[in-house]
Amino acid sequence: MSRTSPEATDVLVVGGGIIGLVTAWRAAQRGMSVAVVDPAPGGGAAQVAAGMLAAVTELHYGEETLLGLNVASARRYPQFAAELSEASGQDLGYRACGTLAVALDADDRAHLRELHALQRRSGLESEWLSGRDCRRLEPMLAPGVRGGLRVDGDHQIDPRRLASALVTACERAGVTFHRRRAERLHVVRDRACGVVVSESATEGASGGAGDGAPDGSAAGGTLLAADRTVLAAGSHSGRLAGVPDEVRPPVRPVKGQVLRLTVPPGYAPFLSRTVRAVVRGSHLYLVPRLSGELVVGATSEELGWDTTVTAGGVYELLRDAHELVPGITELPLTETCAGLRPGSPDNAPLLGPTALPGLLLATGHHRNGVLLTPVTGDAMAQVLATGELPPEARPFTPGRFAGAAPGDLSDVSLEQPV
Ligand code: GLY
Repeated sequence: MSRTSPEATDVLVVGGGIIGLVTAWRAAQRGMSVAVVDPAPGGGAAQVAAGMLAAVTELHYGEETLLGLNVASARRYPQFAAELSEASGQDLGYRACGTLAVALDADDRAHLRELHALQRRSGLESEWLSGRDCRRLEPMLAPGVRGGLRVDGDHQIDPRRLASALVTACERAGVTFHRRRAERLHVVRDRACGVVVSESATEGASGGAGDGAPDGSAAGGTLLAADRTVLAAGSHSGRLAGVPDEVRPPVRPVKGQVLRLTVPPGYAPFLSRTVRAVVRGSHLYLVPRLSGELVVGATSEELGWDTTVTAGGVYELLRDAHELVPGITELPLTETCAGLRPGSPDNAPLLGPTALPGLLLATGHHRNGVLLTPVTGDAMAQVLATGELPPEARPFTPGRFAGAAPGDLSDVSLEQPV
């Protein structure tokens, strides 16, 4: 199959989560012909995520390089949200509400003081508050709160609305959707030339694809030919058959369980901003939406592809949230769910070309997929259009893991439709 076949698109994106969609949208805006392959575009981790845009309050030691990318993306969010809202005609639930990170005991307080020092050294804006001042800002907080960090620059968006808006914006920009499963990367003479997809959205075809046929069909599926293929399948990105081991992204699933509660209309304002804490070593956050939805997250579990919502996960989230905001037990619990973060060995994304010509990656965003959506779309569109990543994305090329074995994928088959 020649990569110059008339049906070939300039770009084929494997994965219709928010990272794949923003890549497709931005590439289409630059005049490229773009297709997305995914059985259910707009699904994936965005359906579970809370949507914190927490470059400052989620800063971790050892992630200072990633911080630069996170901050660059946070700065772009207001304009990105306005542009996407206009392009899709949809409200994204973007809310510049700020975040309060609080401490419940002396250990938490020491931890937050360390975080504050790291934030200051990194040139970030955050203000230390006494427990009393925290409760003045958020009266529903437990009386025992010992202090906290006020970060007015860490905002939120509704990831479900973000995903839906990106699907619409892609459609309006001329992106083609193939609601099928990608079976296998199609490689001809050491170049990625598209993917073979299953015949139906629900059934993954089995068997090898060979090198395809001139009419675009391929053994075991249909060939979608493309000049460039972008693998953006979140935690599943390491599972696509046909990807040579040297360029297979070392991503693994990191399970997060999340709860959704509802603050009834007329109830006194419950929380006015995102509130977070580290409780017994676990990160807890409460994200209040203007709609009354209150998202409580999240567990972080290395359990392979398991997405079961467990009694233990729900119990721990409610127990910790109750310690932080006792009134939470009055609220209706409306939803429980679990999703998979695409974890990478250094918790940072893999962006740009691989050593296999024609294959690029946009994956491994781990805890920061929603935050990094704007900067990822811009970086991927630029590299697809010019061959060069912008400076802020260059530390995140897949080549930094060259020769490394894929992450802990020992319990999964690598030959899977995604
Ligand atoms: N960024 C929040 C989380 O990954 O749970």
